[in-house]
Amino acid sequence: MRIASVVGARPQFVKLGAVSRAIAAERARGADLEEVVIHTGQHYDAGMSDVFFAELELPQPALNLGVGSGPHGEQTGRMLEALERGLRQVAPDVVVVFGDTNSTLAGALAAVKMGIPVGHVEAGLRSFNRRMPEEINRVATDHVCDRLFAPTREALRNLEAERLGARSELVGDVMADAVLFSVGKARETSQVVRRLGIGTGQYALATLHRAASTTREALPGLLEALEAVARRMDRLILPLHPRTAQAIRDICPGWQAPDRLVLTDPVGYLDMLALTEGARLVVTDSGGLQKEAFLLGTPCVTMRTETEWAETVEAGANLVAGTAAQGILDAVDRMLAAAGARDVLKARALECYGAGKAGQRIVKAVTNCRAW
Ligand code: UD1
Repeated sequence: MRIASVVGARPQFVKLGAVSRAIAAERARGADLEEVVIHTGQHYDAGMSDVFFAELELPQPALNLGVGSGPHGEQTGRMLEALERGLRQVAPDVVVVFGDTNSTLAGALAAVKMGIPVGHVEAGLRSFNRRMPEEINRVATDHVCDRLFAPTREALRNLEAERLGARSELVGDVMADAVLFSVGKARETSQVVRRLGIGTGQYALATLHRAASTTREALPGLLEALEAVARRMDRLILPLHPRTAQAIRDICPGWQAPDRLVLTDPVGYLDMLALTEGARLVVTDSGGLQKEAFLLGTPCVTMRTETEWAETVEAGANLVAGTAAQGILDAVDRMLAAAGARDVLKARALECYGAGKAGQRIVKAVTNCRAW
């Protein structure tokens, strides 16, 4: 059986690792499985793509479609065209797509229209905010895929509410698999905390990259919030997504980060795990980082008006602070004051996301795709 995994953006490389390792494990047990990775080329910088393939020991893409950046319609359209050709060439028995990016939607649409069974990893997440491109990608992808792999009970409930329950199953979260697989290696090999000259537990870690965060209206206020957070801490480390670096150049050209706010290039997965685990607090607009912080026991403040990961909030690991500077700062103060025992958060996270078996369950279901 030939399984084609379609990926393209940074968080998908992390999710792919969990499935690839499970395929390799099945093959080692004698299963007749072949994995072909198709990279759309949505993310193309070495620091956004290559480093993840190396660190996570991912199979090299058999095809890189080189689609690159562009407005949504153009980017997704180019992917569809190239994927149709690529899938014809690869002729897989089944396609797997991951998460909620334009690469996810294009992979699902191309496959289903060619009559190839397609499964969605991380199905059923909803922010109920239709202004997020990722929300549109999720809803559309879930409704066209043949099999939906829900990471949490809430995600499964969302799918049932959209009458997709019959095609859905709860498998746990592949990002938990990824953290469990890599955290030991991150502790052993990452030099990032030393390189930045910061002490474990002395700094906060921030990321900022969403489309809605990098607009003319939102970006100045969020930078102001991060400056204020930096003043509360020894250091605030902010690895900059290329979209954000560009937005700062365009929208706030004179902006200078104060001394305590340390800007870096995007970091690889192992450095990101090390930074997250060593941080006193995470401040982010990312989805994945809210979970990674929870899994590593680090409290989180989310600079958005909603989250898809309600269990992080219910467990007291995350506060959804909105996007106004004062609200973010208040949430940071509350989290710093309330931060509970990290081991309790970690244990709770494993209960929510499954203890690293999601990839295995997905591969078991995928090998059964003729029955979908
Ligand atoms: C995409 C996903 C988002 C995910 C994020 C992770 C969609 C709609 N969004 O957003 O869900 O959280 O990836 O990073 O698919 N750029 C580079 N080099 C790169 C990649 C991007 O310079 O390797 C720049 C380009 O200027 C580009 C901009 O970043 O225009 C945005 O890239 P794009 O892939 O469109 O979306 P992301 O913001 O990365």
